[in-house]
Amino acid sequence: MSETAKLELEGKSFELPVVVGTEQEKGVDISKLRSTTGYITLDDGYGNTGSCSSAITFIDGDKGILRYRGIPIEELAEKASFVETAYLLIYGHLPNRDQMREFSELLTRNQNLHENMKHHFEGFPPDSHPMAMLSAMINASSCFYPGLMGPASRERFQVHAARLISQVRTIAAFTHRKARGLPIIYPKPAYKFTANFLHMMFSEPYSEYELQPEVVRALDLIFLLHADHEQNCSTSTVRMVASSQANLFASASAGVCALWGPLHGGANQAVIEMLEAIHRSGDKGDRFIEAAKDKNSGTKLMGFGHRVYKNYDPRAKIIKQACDALFKALHIRDPLLDIARKLEEAALNDSYFVERKLYPNVDFYSGIMMRAIGIPTEMFTVIFAIGRMPGWIANFKEIMDDPKSRIYRPRQIYVGPALNHYVPMDERG
Ligand code: ACO
Repeated sequence: MSETAKLELEGKSFELPVVVGTEQEKGVDISKLRSTTGYITLDDGYGNTGSCSSAITFIDGDKGILRYRGIPIEELAEKASFVETAYLLIYGHLPNRDQMREFSELLTRNQNLHENMKHHFEGFPPDSHPMAMLSAMINASSCFYPGLMGPASRERFQVHAARLISQVRTIAAFTHRKARGLPIIYPKPAYKFTANFLHMMFSEPYSEYELQPEVVRALDLIFLLHADHEQNCSTSTVRMVASSQANLFASASAGVCALWGPLHGGANQAVIEMLEAIHRSGDKGDRFIEAAKDKNSGTKLMGFGHRVYKNYDPRAKIIKQACDALFKALHIRDPLLDIARKLEEAALNDSYFVERKLYPNVDFYSGIMMRAIGIPTEMFTVIFAIGRMPGWIANFKEIMDDPKSRIYRPRQIYVGPALNHYVPMDERG
């Protein structure tokens, strides 16, 4: 007999089904709670709420495990490319040779923006944040593909998905070029995904950016490590928007907005700004650690802590090693890397961080790596968005393919004034 949970309310007993996931994580199914008891559950910040069942990504935050479609992130980081990983996330299995070729060709065929899209870039002030431009431009590009709406969008999903993965990278690079007053560099069909992005970011009309395999691999790894992370803030946002049957581009554009915040994807930019401030102040990190522990200081150790991981974020381990390897290969040093290492060591030996199980997250070293590649700080969160696109698309597809999918519509406990009445302006105090 399947397990149930018992709930006592107002002297009555209710049985709630228990659902068990593939990895034995358990949840109490409360989908009939309100209709049978009149009660709802209250879970500020959703720390205990499963918003869906999903077959895409598995995380065990206590053990520090992350798997895409069952495959450990460590294996993918060592053996797979970002594009291969994107296919895995969206279609549920690793592509065979033909599928991989077809998918890559689809990405290449769809990498160019509609020429008219270029005019939209002119409208932004020069110091616009690239995340604002990215979100706006992804949404705007849906205007160029009327097929995104309606039933035909299902049949063309493969093309729309490839277009979005490919074009987000083109938009991102154009955003950077425009913000710096530089001429736009078009994608080169002969280049693979990540090499092409570096080319569009850094080539000039008069000189081609010299691709270094270590740099291409490092950035590809950053994309891959960010490709999905189950029901985080931005992915939940994408699912929320998708649940209303909004189109793929509109849903992804909302995801970019959610990712922008410094408590989510914006943390990689915030980490570098924090390290730069520590460096400028001449602090070795000790003063900063003390401030981060003081709730009144308004300071946090950015790149540390995670809602789900109460152990080392497995992506942070991989990225730390990759960061060391990249610095060695390029024969470079960065004082910010030294500060980051000291901060990490100090925090891991400090009871405040140990007791609260605060460990480095993916953002702690990724910014230092991107700096070494030459990516400007304001583009860090954009890089995260390029990487996260396959995860958002896979989650969108899960909703689209589920015939039982309903619009997401949480409830609330109202704590505002009880019945109140309109007072004419002259009679108000
Ligand atoms: N520095 C100092 N103290 C921290 C930090 C930090 N980075 N993170 C959490 N804490 C403290 C909290 O103040 C709280 O202390 P208390 O119990 O004394 O009140 C305790 O640790 C528990 O933290 P919560 O706030 O419950 O953690 P929550 O799950 O709500 O937030 C979050 C997680 C947002 C990631 C938080 O750890 C944080 O702000 N970290 C810094 C920003 C960051 O790196 N974000 C990137 C996340 S990863 C990603 O999005 C890819």
